[in-house]
Amino acid sequence: MLYCIEARSLLKSYGNFTAVDGIDLRVQSGKIFGFLGPNGAGKTTTMKLLTTLIPPTGGQMNILGIDAIKSPLEVRKKIGVVLQQPSYEPTLSVEKSLEKYGMMWNVEKKIRKERVEELLSAFDLVEIRKKKNDDISIGQRRRVQVAREFMHDMELLFLDEPTVGLDPSARRGLLDYIKVKVKDGLTIFFTTHILEEAEYLCDDIAIINKGKIIAVDTPEDLKNKFGREKTIKIHISEQKNVSALLSEIQDCKIEYNSGIITVHSNKSELVLQNILQILASNHIPVEDLSVVPTSLEEIFLSVVKNSNASNNSSGQ
Ligand SMILES: Nc1ncnc2c1ncn2[C@@H]1O[C@H](COP(=O)(O)OP(=O)(O)O)[C@@H](O)[C@H]1O
Ligand SMILES: [Mg+2]
Repeated sequence: MLYCIEARSLLKSYGNFTAVDGIDLRVQSGKIFGFLGPNGAGKTTTMKLLTTLIPPTGGQMNILGIDAIKSPLEVRKKIGVVLQQPSYEPTLSVEKSLEKYGMMWNVEKKIRKERVEELLSAFDLVEIRKKKNDDISIGQRRRVQVAREFMHDMELLFLDEPTVGLDPSARRGLLDYIKVKVKDGLTIFFTTHILEEAEYLCDDIAIINKGKIIAVDTPEDLKNKFGREKTIKIHISEQKNVSALLSEIQDCKIEYNSGIITVHSNKSELVLQNILQILASNHIPVEDLSVVPTSLEEIFLSVVKNSNASNNSSGQ
């Protein structure tokens, strides 16, 4: 099966509010698909639709080759889901939480025991294995909630902002564990609003804003497409009238502030040459120079901003 998830014109409305506005999605088997967007964009709603927890208002979806609208229960048997909201049994210990989850999924006893040990260790829960869920921190509870989902076999796992509330080392631990599982053949649908995470983890990324998908690509291609702009910083020793000297240069935005010239441009090589020439002919020495490619974070912010702007103008 080439695609684990295929959705077409997927729509979810609440009254006259549209949370998911006719989106198309295709997620390749064995890949990590990142679903990115600001708060309220429609990430959780899309995940609830794809996992058959809520019915769509319109559209089609095929999950693991199954028509998910006709046969939601068949889909649910084959997937794992970690929702955004916390879910735990207060009086159960950490190890019992994993154990019980495995029982619920009818995992054979021997395998269950092995997996509990593997997950306690992978999610750094060994020291607190006997503690009750009520007596551990929110971050630790989240780790238990994510860990227990790995108790059962599945082909496709949905994770809704799984790293929220985790400290940096727990976060990295989880992302690396996911990578290992994907090597073993699991497919992951992963929502986040943290760009670094998506960049570190995901093979493909879709950006959603106000219920609409506004970009889909690999992190690398998103950068190439939207991130041609670079930022150049030139440190100079002189405080002369630099702004006036550079004011004629085209194809860029230049700012000058206490010895640092900052340039944003799509034609950074050309612009840089021009600036250096002008500085040299005015005997202004350059002390330091750096060229920074645009980060995925900046691309995300600018893609979302542009989509908001075009929504506003077309809505008038
Ligand atoms: N049950 C519901 N009834 C009405 N509006 C909802 C419901 N669930 C979600 N929404 C709205 O749909 C939009 C998308 O929500 P959500 O999918 O949770 O966003 P995200 O997960 O990207 O932060 C939000 O404006 C939210 O308020
Ligand atoms: Mg959400």
